[in-house]
Amino acid sequence: MSGLSAELKQVFKEHGDKARPVKQAAVLGAGIMGGGITITSAAHGVPVIMKDIAQEQLDLGMKTATSQVNRLVKKEQMTQEQANQVLATIEPTLEYEGFDKVDGVIEAVVENLGLKHKVLDQLEAVVRKDTLIATNTSSLRIDDIGQHMKHPERFVGMHFFNPVPVMPLVEIIQGTRTSDESVSTAVTWALKMGKTPIVVQDCPGFLVNRILTAYTRAFLQLIEEGADFEHVDKSMEAFGWPMGPAYLEDVIGIDTGSHVSDVISAGYPERMPHIENDAFRLMKSKDRLGQKNGKGFYEYTPDDSGRPQKHSSAEVHELLKAIQPNGQKDVSVEEIQQRMMLAMITEAVHCLEDKVVNSAEELDTALLMGVGFPRDKGGAIRYADSLGAKAILEQCEQYRHLGTQYEPTATIRKLAETGGSFYDEFPAGN
Ligand SMILES: NC(=O)c1ccc[n+]([C@@H]2O[C@H](COP(=O)([O-])OP(=O)(O)OC[C@H]3O[C@@H](n4cnc5c(N)ncnc54)[C@H](O)[C@@H]3O)[C@@H](O)[C@H]2O)c1
Repeated sequence: MSGLSAELKQVFKEHGDKARPVKQAAVLGAGIMGGGITITSAAHGVPVIMKDIAQEQLDLGMKTATSQVNRLVKKEQMTQEQANQVLATIEPTLEYEGFDKVDGVIEAVVENLGLKHKVLDQLEAVVRKDTLIATNTSSLRIDDIGQHMKHPERFVGMHFFNPVPVMPLVEIIQGTRTSDESVSTAVTWALKMGKTPIVVQDCPGFLVNRILTAYTRAFLQLIEEGADFEHVDKSMEAFGWPMGPAYLEDVIGIDTGSHVSDVISAGYPERMPHIENDAFRLMKSKDRLGQKNGKGFYEYTPDDSGRPQKHSSAEVHELLKAIQPNGQKDVSVEEIQQRMMLAMITEAVHCLEDKVVNSAEELDTALLMGVGFPRDKGGAIRYADSLGAKAILEQCEQYRHLGTQYEPTATIRKLAETGGSFYDEFPAGN
């Protein structure tokens, strides 16, 4: 929370004034995300009923929770007694018992619309009318998930990032029928869990994944044109990213990443049309899924402590030739950095113009916390302001022949003309 402006802190305070308290929580689904949300909520003083349909998943969830608190004990951030108290506030169950006492539920079952409809139906039958119901969906629309709900005003998105105990960001997604009070309740609950909540509107990809998709698509286009992916990775790491786009995709999992990218691209067909020679699709078809199966753009072997170490793969360079119809091409570091970052900046400005997020500061905060945007550059919009809208417009003109993603937006044109800044145009707390 440090580093946020007084205006943004005031926004959080105002949410706090409107929020209903969440003193008893429930989480549906004890998987990767549900387990992480459970321990995070319990460790911050909100007891959780953790429900799943499989006993082994509940056991796994409790095992993960135990190892999380043990880690805190080891780091002397918690005593063993406190750790035991936290674990005692988690109630694993296969039933809906006790849900009538719950103030807030986060649904984290598998990403399937039909299943989410079924689970919400069951939930509405057992919780109070005013219980907040949140979904941790990563790709489905809040309005679609909540379409059959009896009380859609209490339904909101709370999109946590993996791994939940470590990642500070939560996107709070307001559907068209979500009440302001529910948004404020979700914001305040996320703050209580030690997270930084950013309120966003319900659109394909929400905020962070939508902007990230524009960036990864710029990568795919460079590869299709003949650029070397390791050179692209090195160029973006030199810019300040903790890892380049190919390596990032290996870490996320190429099957997951490419599915998310396809779903989001389908939501913006004008700027994100079908890519004929798609390196992610190629990798997936060759069962190169990334770190999870030891081979993606790179190959991975465990080091002494079991952490995957990446190595270049001659096979991948050979494979990629099949999707480079014009052969290989040297692209300068400067061009790579400009095209990758400009794609991100233009999509970020679209998000501000579409009011997906309220301010430039909130957008940048989400990118810094959600995707590891280079800290010294301050976020896509702060970086755009450091270049100036006039320079951004010139870059758009230089690259617009590559596609409508580089078309300058109305705000870019306006600020290039007036010399104004994006931060002044989209201030926090307005
Ligand atoms: N994994 C990620 O990186 C990530 C990140 C952000 C959001 N998400 C979203 O979080 C949600 C969960 O993803 P995950 O990766 O934790 O999945 P997962 O497969 O690890 O866990 C899903 C859990 O749901 C349980 N489940 C299935 N049907 C159920 C039911 N009717 N009632 C209760 N539990 C049920 C399963 O037994 C399983 O334990 C998805 O919507 C996903 O899109 C995932």
